[in-house]
Amino acid sequence: MAENMKGRLEGKVCIITGAAQGMGEATARLFASHGAKVALGDVNTEKLEAVAKDIGGDAFYHKLDVSDDENWKIFSGAVRDKFGTIDVLVNNAGLVHFTPIEMLDPNDFNRILGVNTLGPILGTKHVTPIMKAAGKGSIINISSVDGLRGANGLTCYTASKWALRGITKCHAFELGTSGIRVNSVHPGGVDTPMGNSAGRPKEEVNQVFKRLPLGRIGDPTEIAQASLFLASDEASYITGAEIAVDGGWTAGTFLTMLPGSPEGLMP
Ligand SMILES: NC(=O)c1ccc[n+]([C@@H]2O[C@H](COP(=O)([O-])OP(=O)(O)OC[C@H]3O[C@@H](n4cnc5c(N)ncnc54)[C@H](O)[C@@H]3O)[C@@H](O)[C@H]2O)c1
Repeated sequence: MAENMKGRLEGKVCIITGAAQGMGEATARLFASHGAKVALGDVNTEKLEAVAKDIGGDAFYHKLDVSDDENWKIFSGAVRDKFGTIDVLVNNAGLVHFTPIEMLDPNDFNRILGVNTLGPILGTKHVTPIMKAAGKGSIINISSVDGLRGANGLTCYTASKWALRGITKCHAFELGTSGIRVNSVHPGGVDTPMGNSAGRPKEEVNQVFKRLPLGRIGDPTEIAQASLFLASDEASYITGAEIAVDGGWTAGTFLTMLPGSPEGLMP
């Protein structure tokens, strides 16, 4: 990245949840490289500590189970005590879950909604008084393409991500006049422990995504770039919006029999 592009979050205090690996880690690293003071939360404290230490500077980390109100109270208080304020919250921590509908266990539904939906709600609850006092803030909810459309086997996850998309718009209305912007990001397939759990080589994984307009899986930093924009003052008039960062996955359907396809019948 060109040197003149650095510093887009200079001095901003940014919380990133689920920062021990994957997209959260990539977001933390990108934000720190743009001058942010990052505060990282995750249930995996061992990995979290390693990431924070590697980022260095004044990177802060603390155990956080996003589904727990008391955890959020302690975490947000610790961040405020350390840095004096909170400018940005990236609600990134999440769990995926697959099940045929006949096998659905209500406990799984509650667990997935607890992390993916209640987690961001509680995070927003606890940073709001601090952001209101500062008169500004940016909250970024990491939803999914599964918050924009449906997919087989994904009842719990889809419910959690559609709900998060809707809640984003509620909070945009509720907090806008306090100077707090709230937006959602909708990643497609991303090369993280969640998106590529077997750690298969990119060329192999890309086969799954070959019908997408961009024909490949995304890199976690490519999603973090969208969050960087929404966190920065460049997005000062954007709230209640949803940004798909999905290689075009939700743009439509690739029709193999039409022009533009190698298998197409027409010249
Ligand atoms: N990878 C993808 O293909 C993809 C696609 C669309 C959306 N997403 C979403 O992006 C976000 C990040 O996904 P990822 O691919 O980096 O996943 P990941 O599994 O690689 O990382 C998720 C992180 O969240 C943490 N976490 C889980 N439960 C937690 C809790 N209760 N409290 C705090 N931390 C918790 C995990 O320990 C882990 O470090 C998630 O919300 C996910 O649903 C991912």
